[in-house]
Amino acid sequence: MSIADKIPADIRGENYTGAATCVKCHTSIGESFAHNSHGLTSSPVVNKNLLKLLANDSNSFAFNQIMKIKVEKRDSGIYQVAYVNGKEIRSQRFDVAFGSGEKAFTYAYWKDKKLFQLPLSHFSEIKTWANSPGFPKNAMYFDRQVTSRCLECHSSFVKTSVKQVSALAMDEEMEKGSLIYGIDCERCHGPGKQHAVFHLENPKEKKAKFITIYNTLSRKQKMDACGVCHSGNTLTTVQSVFNFQPGDKLADYYSQDFVSFGGGNPDVHGNQTAMLQGTLCYQKSEMTCQSCHNSHESIKGNMAIYSQRCISCHQTQKHTATTLAKGVLKTNCIDCHMPMQASKLISFQTAGNKNVNPYLLRSHHIGIYPAK
Ligand code: HEC
Ligand code: HEC
Ligand code: HEC
Ligand code: HEC
Ligand code: HEC
Ligand code: HEC
Ligand code: HEC
Repeated sequence: MSIADKIPADIRGENYTGAATCVKCHTSIGESFAHNSHGLTSSPVVNKNLLKLLANDSNSFAFNQIMKIKVEKRDSGIYQVAYVNGKEIRSQRFDVAFGSGEKAFTYAYWKDKKLFQLPLSHFSEIKTWANSPGFPKNAMYFDRQVTSRCLECHSSFVKTSVKQVSALAMDEEMEKGSLIYGIDCERCHGPGKQHAVFHLENPKEKKAKFITIYNTLSRKQKMDACGVCHSGNTLTTVQSVFNFQPGDKLADYYSQDFVSFGGGNPDVHGNQTAMLQGTLCYQKSEMTCQSCHNSHESIKGNMAIYSQRCISCHQTQKHTATTLAKGVLKTNCIDCHMPMQASKLISFQTAGNKNVNPYLLRSHHIGIYPAK
């Protein structure tokens, strides 16, 4: 048997092999990846993990005096159970988790070949359950379909087919067993089987072959490789984004006009690309996402390291005496120049509260903001 026959097959096609092969040689990246938000951004629900969330919480969300959803562990899994006046009217199991839990988890259940979102999501900031973003305030809603579009940004692959349900309507079905959870190596680097086979056969070769070398990409290609998932969720696709590989152009996947796009009013949620492109830092330098983010390290919350990345371009800054009086500037440029802002698209409602809570994200519009 040749090496090529021995390495695992992958549902995406004969050019792919799956992350298990990649991490055999790239062990340290594999280790950091196991705890990385890209890798964890979707997962099959594991009761043990979900029970940890349940431990500190009332696990109940009242819409009003008569309608309530409870999170309950039963023999066949953990469920969201809807009650009206104390009487159970519907229950659905937690099957799939969306999000690494950084800010939130939303959940879905399988019904035949479709996924539907569960009414309650878990928000890290308030450490409890709340009505899922965009869900009705006075109804316990179980029928919001989660299409492959969510998975295009939150997973590595799912096989879909389209069924004609009437003269006018098409219905999407997804193969549960084909879903590759998380964003894996080949989702960002493109198919890597030939690369893996070559290096297995040529262990002395230290120069990468048959894989896109990131540093050889143009600035635009680098921006597009992240922008495929970080340019907002309102774009219309013209072909499956699962096919995107580094080096490809965004314009071949989305129908928007990316030249004028971003001139509008981009949201902090999901659209870091347009936010950044509107700044002087971006326009007057060769800045890319890599100026501040390395895709394999996790420096979440470490403002001092991020600030060093600002200082690498801004060795000196002209701050007024009033600004300088605010303390040690050099360890946290971020909170002043990239403040947390509320998303205009997402907010969430907590129990017994008619108002909505803001969903805060880091603004990628680097600039001078009024002092707080
Ligand atoms: C048999 C060992 C082996 C396997 C398996 C392997 N690689 Fe590599 N890879 C290498 C070697 C050797 C290099 C060159 C040295 C280096 O950059 O680490 C490399 C380099 C790379 C690079 C760096 C290219 C650059 O920018 O310089 C990427 C990206 C990469 N591999 C991705 C993958 C992915 C994705 C997989 C799984 C599909 C994979 N590798 C599987 C051995 C392997
Ligand atoms: C296939 C879609 C996809 C691609 C490609 C992608 N991202 Fe992401 N990214 C996501 C999703 C989804 C999340 C939210 C993860 C979670 O659940 O917390 C995320 C989260 C992040 C985060 C916040 C979490 C962290 O690790 O600090 C950063 C930063 C980030 N991405 C940067 C990048 C950069 C830079 C690139 C390009 C090299 C990129 N992403 C490519 C989908 C993608
Ligand atoms: C979110 C997208 C993303 C994912 C997922 C991802 N990479 Fe990368 N990788 C990049 C980018 C972008 C670079 C270029 C340098 C950088 O930004 O860190 C890179 C660089 C590399 C390199 C060369 C530089 C280095 O750090 O050694 C290797 C090897 C590599 N990746 C392998 C992998 C493997 C193996 C996996 C899966 C375990 C993986 N990558 C997952 C985006 C990704
Ligand atoms: C165009 C890509 C894209 C699409 C489509 C998309 N998301 Fe996201 N999603 C992201 C990115 C990027 C983030 C993280 C950063 C942010 O909010 O800007 C994110 C964040 C999230 C989070 C919070 C993750 C965490 O760990 O805090 C959840 C939950 C989520 N998305 C669920 C969904 C669901 C459900 C759908 C489909 C209805 C969906 N997303 C569609 C890109 C996308
Ligand atoms: C790749 C280089 C680069 C990086 C990294 C960078 N900047 Fe900039 N930034 C620039 C350039 C170039 C300008 C424009 C300077 C000019 O025109 O005088 C600028 C302008 C600014 C301005 C003035 C903006 C305005 O609207 O007047 C602020 C504030 C700023 N940067 C803060 C930051 C902070 C904070 C960081 C880190 C989060 C950062 N920059 C990272 C290159 C960079
Ligand atoms: C000038 C530096 C800089 C650049 C360039 C930059 N980011 Fe960020 N980004 C940050 C900082 C700082 C944070 C906050 C990190 C934290 O809270 O730990 C952040 C957070 C994020 C998050 C998490 C969202 C949140 O609100 O927590 C995502 C997603 C992200 N960046 C994606 C990107 C993408 C995609 C690009 C390129 C289009 C990019 N970033 C370019 C500095 C930068
Ligand atoms: C306490 C909030 C605060 C902190 C911390 C802070 N800045 Fe500023 N920055 C400002 C304000 C406000 C201005 C406008 C000038 C002024 O009023 O001082 C400014 C102006 C700037 C400018 C434009 C003026 C110039 O130098 O061209 C740059 C660039 C800049 N800051 C970069 C940084 C960097 C890099 C850091 C971290 C090392 C940082 N700032 C930390 C509030 C802050």
